[in-house]
Amino acid sequence: MRKIVAVPIGCGHYLPKRQVNNSEFERTIDTTNEWIISRTGIESRHFADPSENTSDLALKAARMALSDAKIAASELDALILATATPDQTFPSTATRVQHSLGMNKGFAFDIQAVCAGFIFALSNANALIKSGQVKKVMVIGAEIFSRILDWSDRSTCILFGDGAGALILEAAENNTKEIRRGILSTDLNSDGKYNDLLFVNGGVATTQTSGFVEMQGREVFKHAVSKLVSTAENSLKAANLSTKDVNWVVPHQANSRIISRTANIMGIDMNKVVMTVSNHGNTSAASIPIALSCSKQQNRFKSGDLLLMKAIGGGLAWGSVAMRW
Ligand code: ACO
Repeated sequence: MRKIVAVPIGCGHYLPKRQVNNSEFERTIDTTNEWIISRTGIESRHFADPSENTSDLALKAARMALSDAKIAASELDALILATATPDQTFPSTATRVQHSLGMNKGFAFDIQAVCAGFIFALSNANALIKSGQVKKVMVIGAEIFSRILDWSDRSTCILFGDGAGALILEAAENNTKEIRRGILSTDLNSDGKYNDLLFVNGGVATTQTSGFVEMQGREVFKHAVSKLVSTAENSLKAANLSTKDVNWVVPHQANSRIISRTANIMGIDMNKVVMTVSNHGNTSAASIPIALSCSKQQNRFKSGDLLLMKAIGGGLAWGSVAMRW
């Protein structure tokens, strides 16, 4: 039977120029480089210039992805942008990027699932392609978390960074050689009873401010490990695969201890796990597409490699995608 598959055809990323080492935090809050590295694995992160908006970061990542895929923006049918830090309350950041790119047909919209946003966006893009509604989709994760950090809260302000990543998917039919590539399965979950573990203490309808990140780190850590393992198992099972088949894990980059603990429980060697958190910090919805693009630049993935992507964030919302590169 002929089946439509969503195949990756290009990716890109952008990290703002300003790189901030842990030592900068030692000057303003009661912390040390050693504490941050040992508890999180983070050594530095990038912060956007005040003149940069989330759409500016997204645009640069999107242009790099178009060039990598060797297609024009006018060929895109849809653009889905995951962010928790949009330029404005409305219109969507996606439509701003659509316009700046010169994408003159189709539609664009934002998705909000915080750190799991890229997985939710990818899953939606996959569904749009499989249903036959679109052929080429740009999926972006872009964040400027530095705008919602409380610089006096040492347990959160050291964790996050800014950046954007983009992946372009194209419809292919499984009666071609492309069957060996593309998205095989997705798994999405959320549970709003955990809202209070990780949230922003402001919003349009509540305070009319954008607010700042608050988090119960220890609790989030525990949920992250167990839920990332279960969602990864769900995606693999849905694709009739097991951990033995995985060539690369591309996890959300929140904390190196969450990443290694999860890999350890699943019996996956850390040589197969992409890690960018040490130089990027947690870039929320942008972390997975940035990791994909950096890995591609380093020629780490071979065509047909099985990638397991997984993420969790505020909500809590979590999910995973199994995809052949
Ligand atoms: N420097 C020095 N000490 C600190 C710092 C800091 N930057 N931050 C917290 N501490 C202190 C605390 O005040 C506490 O001190 P106390 O014992 O005197 O009260 C002590 O360190 C231990 O605090 P915990 O919060 O229990 O520390 P923990 O070992 O759990 O590490 C951390 C904190 C790194 C936030 C950890 O809980 C974590 O990584 N949680 C996961 C959260 C996460 O990654 N969230 C990102 C968003 S969600 C996602 O993307 C998955």
